[in-house]
Amino acid sequence: MTGAKRTGPPLAALPALLIRGARQIVTMRGPVRARRGAEMAQIGVLNSAAMLVEGGRISQLGPATRIENLSAARKAREIDASGCIVLPGLVDCHTHMVFPGSRLGDYAQRIAGASYEDIAGAGGGIQSTMRAVRAATVNALQAAAERSARLMARHGTLLAEAKSGYGLSVAAELKMLRAIGRAGGPVRLAPTCLGAHALPPEAAGDPDGYIADVCRSLLPEAARLHLAEFADVYCDRGAFTVQQSARYLEAAAALGLGLRIHASQFSNIGAVELAVRLGAVSADHLEVIEPKQVALLAQSETIAVLLPASVLHLGLNRYAPARALIGAGAAIALATDFNPGSSPTPSLPLVMSLACAQMRMSPAEALTAVTVNGAAALRRTETAGILESGRAADFTVFAAQDYREIPYYLGADLLKCAYRDGREVYRQGEC
Ligand code: NIG
Ligand code: FE
Repeated sequence: MTGAKRTGPPLAALPALLIRGARQIVTMRGPVRARRGAEMAQIGVLNSAAMLVEGGRISQLGPATRIENLSAARKAREIDASGCIVLPGLVDCHTHMVFPGSRLGDYAQRIAGASYEDIAGAGGGIQSTMRAVRAATVNALQAAAERSARLMARHGTLLAEAKSGYGLSVAAELKMLRAIGRAGGPVRLAPTCLGAHALPPEAAGDPDGYIADVCRSLLPEAARLHLAEFADVYCDRGAFTVQQSARYLEAAAALGLGLRIHASQFSNIGAVELAVRLGAVSADHLEVIEPKQVALLAQSETIAVLLPASVLHLGLNRYAPARALIGAGAAIALATDFNPGSSPTPSLPLVMSLACAQMRMSPAEALTAVTVNGAAALRRTETAGILESGRAADFTVFAAQDYREIPYYLGADLLKCAYRDGREVYRQGEC
């Protein structure tokens, strides 16, 4: 797995840790796969529980008295989580977190009334970040990835997808993917090749030629060098057609990459049908889908990844139909879409707030969507999104009495500390 590299003593040499006193430990225990429909409300809350961590792994999780007795024998160091709740490390399964600079010019234009698509059509938007990426060294991009990872960890994210997509040439896309592979820091990263994010200026007027190039050179090289696990395409008006997207994704599938699609963000042109037909791991955005696509997703294995922060930041008001999806039995994951254009937020708790208030997901469903279902959207349910003995001790401690406070306190930074493999990677004050 590509992931953040960490140094320090070997895991076996770490002191045992006892996490005690928590109001709730939310385990997400249950099937080791995406939770669908009504299953999304089952989150496995333990009261009066404690957790023992040994060698970087959860060795015991259950009733406080039993575990505290065990831990005394093991001379465990205590983390006092009284007044707090413990959750799995959060999983952010859709991010464009590697970007130098920002897009404050676009922001000003949108505030003044221009649309995201107008700005992109005029050579701003994704192309302005492309210019910055092409000018940056791999080291500068690695630093950008690590800066984003630190911001994300401050809100509880310990596993995230990281897309390329701002290079838009073979060399610049591979440079982004190398930077993602090298990035250290608190968040494990799952790399996605988004070679088909936008048409670069040198290919203007020839999207078919661009897709053919990407399929011939970029995707095979990314796969050969093990720089990507997934491939993603932006299939929408103003981006790539369904036919072009199909060519790209079929080439990626033939190389063994998992498939993801930016689908139905602005127009409903058949991207969901394509995702389901090709067995994509996820179809992402879905703001403008209709009942037909809801039913299709519900009958498929493709996870619906919803990105409400991009709707908020773009000043739009049409959110994806989360209730219809859950009602029909689909699996939903929520993600930040962290990027400099449409969603400059690293915060999954903020995304949960939006999902509850604007999409009427329950707090329990929202929590499922940023833990086990986010992990499923990255094909990592065996290693992330669930707390149970035997798994890596990747967990977060929030200053809350009840998990529902996480979406309820809008924009509040409730995270107290985060641990990855039993090592502290973030702390803010005592817990
Ligand atoms: O998911 N819509 C396409 N891609 C991104 C935005 C990327 C950008 O504007 O830099 C999205 O919203
Ligand atoms: Fe995106």
